[in-house]
Amino acid sequence: MKENKGETMGAYYDDNTLAEINHRVDILDVVADTVKLTRKGDRYWGLCPFHAEKTPSFSVTPGKNMFYCFGCHAGGNLFTYIMKRDGMDFPEAVQMLASRAGIQLHHTQVNKAVDRFRRVVEVNKAAASWFQGILEEDPAATKARQYLAKRHLKEDTIKRFQLGYSPNEWNRISNYLLGKGFDLEWVKESGLIKRSKNGDAYYDLFRDRVIFPIFDYQGSIVGFGGRTVEEALPKYLNTPETEVYVKRNHLFGLYQARETIRKSNQAILVEGYMDCLKLHQHDIQNAVASLGTALTREQALLLRRYSENILVLYDGDEAGQRETLRAVEILAEQGLNVEVLTLPGGLDPDDYLDQYGKEEFLQYIQNNRVSYIEFKVKRSIAAENSLNLQAKIRVINAVKPDIGRLESTILRDNYVKMLSRLLKIEENLILKEIESNIGQRMQHPKNKSPVNRDNIQYGNYSMEEKILANMLQNSDIADTIASQIGVQCFTSRHYNRLAAICYEMGGDLQANPVAWQQAVQKEGLEALLARLESRWHEGIRINDAELWYFIRSVQRGRQKAKWRKLHQRLDQLRNDGGFHSVLRLILDLDTFLHQTREGGIQ
Ligand code: GTP
Ligand code: MN
Repeated sequence: MKENKGETMGAYYDDNTLAEINHRVDILDVVADTVKLTRKGDRYWGLCPFHAEKTPSFSVTPGKNMFYCFGCHAGGNLFTYIMKRDGMDFPEAVQMLASRAGIQLHHTQVNKAVDRFRRVVEVNKAAASWFQGILEEDPAATKARQYLAKRHLKEDTIKRFQLGYSPNEWNRISNYLLGKGFDLEWVKESGLIKRSKNGDAYYDLFRDRVIFPIFDYQGSIVGFGGRTVEEALPKYLNTPETEVYVKRNHLFGLYQARETIRKSNQAILVEGYMDCLKLHQHDIQNAVASLGTALTREQALLLRRYSENILVLYDGDEAGQRETLRAVEILAEQGLNVEVLTLPGGLDPDDYLDQYGKEEFLQYIQNNRVSYIEFKVKRSIAAENSLNLQAKIRVINAVKPDIGRLESTILRDNYVKMLSRLLKIEENLILKEIESNIGQRMQHPKNKSPVNRDNIQYGNYSMEEKILANMLQNSDIADTIASQIGVQCFTSRHYNRLAAICYEMGGDLQANPVAWQQAVQKEGLEALLARLESRWHEGIRINDAELWYFIRSVQRGRQKAKWRKLHQRLDQLRNDGGFHSVLRLILDLDTFLHQTREGGIQ
């Protein structure tokens, strides 16, 4: 067995630390943070957190601390799961899992970024509950409480989103946090205090504002928004971008909405904090808001973890509609099904709910939601002064890629008809325009990151996969293969790499799973390993007959390849062969036939 230290990961963990973490942390608990799992046999199944799906193809094998998704082929171990789920690097994942396991890593092992995150989040958490306490009972917050009441926000909503109030003073939160013993460095880093102009004092960023904590999807408070209650400017003030608060990575309300989004496979995206709160208050709990900036690709990807259907519900005014167009492009690029709802009279969702109530709101959504393509068509038509031929071509061009991208001919046909109706152009002309684009789609089927579906059906795995899975688990089988045909016996390069690791590691995954996983991770083969583990747990076992059938067929394949080579050489000799080369060939042929007779070809 080769010695295997964690430095291959660019960090400094010994096998013992990693083994200890693996021993103490159950991957089931970690996965259950975000995925609902159901037990079937000795494995657990749920909806994959790495791609949007409606039926579970994500499996977890608890004993091994491994996961594998049959839909998108994501797979790996406890550490890679965290890396993938939380976007961490290896040291960060180790740190995170170690603290979960209650293991103290040596100081040098504490990753700086993780440490910073944890400390700033601690500061934020303390600040949020202080703001909250002020809003609840401080006389200075009477005005703020009245304001929120005027906006029809209820106690429950205020509590659930942990709203607070920062008094109209210069040093309240800084005094409070520093008084509590938080390090100035981390209080500064939180963005809650700012350095004064002459540089020797600090003052509070948020003064006389209602505080909206911004949670990451796991419930850590990463930043704050603060709304003025006196109509001061700016209307909203937000935590400045820091290493901890990167606003393009977060969505307001996602933490509170994520379970509902997952269950309903539908998210509602709004523009404002207030809109989001109001929807939740009316028991429409799948609403999230972008953070005061145009929607980002990262936010779209974040949403895609929970749902494949997004309804964009921005303000009904011109600015809101313009932003809608940008947002739908970004969402559609991530392969999401996007619909749009435009509210009447320039209202925003908050106004609409206040004026008409929940029932009418839901009714309005039901009757007026349109696909984003329809939205784009209508908007591009509206943008034209007169619908002359040039304008019509512009309209078609605006949606050509979107329509061309649709898999369903019925849907495509539907939009062609719609364009034909609205633009008064014959259907077949529009179809021709669009089809020139479908060709492009065929050439670049990957460029829109479609959800990667598994084409290997359950139970219908290849012989090679079956052999390799057994090889990894059973060193007798590995030995037989090594001695008969060598471990590099597969047609896939990845299989051969994994087989080579298997051989180097002494051929038994069970004996030292952690070292195994590290070696595998180094080569980027952890998903394959997890998949094969998964197969093993499904109970695929080969018997002797199958093993030998495989060995023979590999030998047969190799003989065939040799024959082909001999034939090529014969062809060559026919043209330019001298006596010695012919003799050489005859000798080779003799050896070859001898071998074949002894054992090879049947
Ligand atoms: P209300 O006016 O209280 O209803 O707020 P709202 O949440 O409906 O905000 P609005 O629709 O005006 O703006 C949408 C979002 O943009 C807000 O929730 C904020 O995130 C952001 N935003 C609005 N105004 C400002 C501003 O002055 N500064 C910053 N940084 N962000 C703002
Ligand atoms: Mn508003």
